[in-house]
Amino acid sequence: MSNAKPVLVSAVKPTGDLHIGNYFGAMRQFVELTKEGKYQCFIFVADYHALNTMQDAEEMRRRTRELVMAYIAIGLDPKEVVFFKQSDVPAHTELCWIFDTITTMPYLMRAHAFKDAEAKNKEISVGTFNYPLLMAADILLYDAKIVPVGQDQKQHIEYARDTAEKFNRTFKSEVFALPEPYIMPDVAIVPGTDGQKMSKSYGNVIPLFASREELEKCVMGIVTDSSGDRPENVYQIHRLVRSADELDPLYEEHRGKYKVLKELLIEDLDRYLAPMRAKYEELKNNSGIVEEILAKGKTAARTMSEAKMEQVRKAIGTA
Ligand code: ADP
Ligand code: TRP
Repeated sequence: MSNAKPVLVSAVKPTGDLHIGNYFGAMRQFVELTKEGKYQCFIFVADYHALNTMQDAEEMRRRTRELVMAYIAIGLDPKEVVFFKQSDVPAHTELCWIFDTITTMPYLMRAHAFKDAEAKNKEISVGTFNYPLLMAADILLYDAKIVPVGQDQKQHIEYARDTAEKFNRTFKSEVFALPEPYIMPDVAIVPGTDGQKMSKSYGNVIPLFASREELEKCVMGIVTDSSGDRPENVYQIHRLVRSADELDPLYEEHRGKYKVLKELLIEDLDRYLAPMRAKYEELKNNSGIVEEILAKGKTAARTMSEAKMEQVRKAIGTA
């Protein structure tokens, strides 16, 4: 990997069972972006961010593993991407503390996530309040040029930019470069089996690594609305894996025959998902691979982040 390439940094929290909505809505774009060979890529499992809401050791271990396997299974190449756990690289929390000392409470109180929690009268942990500064550290440690995230994360990138400027100004230094957000193009919302947005919290998902039997069960359970020309929920999911040019004549030919259309969807989905599922199963049975990837990532991320921390310590006068 050449140092001349601009750096891409992003992260995912290990908090959910992945479904095809996550894949088509976010994960796939991620993989495409890292494949281009344009960037030096650092992608990590944001386990310390997840700790704010997930406080169960077994679950943390399992979901971290599953997330790594999922990203490898869908095509993230560990040779191209430094893939690591946030908690494996102490510089993230160390730098977060330093940012804490130059950031005011009212500034953090303007964060959407904080305001939402407050509006709902939720008790908010210090970790949640501080979430944007840990994320700023995540990004700034690597001199990230671009940070691909969903629209909901845009404000966090602005926090990272502000924090970089504040640090540079306060310590009369040029330690941090300003990152740019890369807002992933809005992908149409993938509907769930009940027609609402597919979401783990609605129990309407098609799991990304579903077995053929599970797929059959999910697809057969798709709620069909007989008011229109075609079963819209079935069609919208079908469109994720086949073009309208191919699908429209099929839906015309089988107009009103929902069972036939669902069977076609099962076939097409199964064909699309099978290679990823096979890779996922292979990784599940080869327990050493995930550890190996994370161990390599840890070394690379530590080396890079320590170099930045040396500059930080000099700038603040602790070294
Ligand atoms: P969930 O709604 O199941 O809790 P998350 O909020 O964890 O999903 O979503 C993670 C990412 O997956 C989001 O950034 C979003 O872009 C994408 N995503 C989730 N559900 C959908 C969906 N139904 N359609 C399109 N994208 C989705
Ligand atoms: N906050 C992000 C999310 O909820 C995850 C995240 C943590 C992240 N640190 C990051 C994303 C650094 C990009 C860069 O999706």
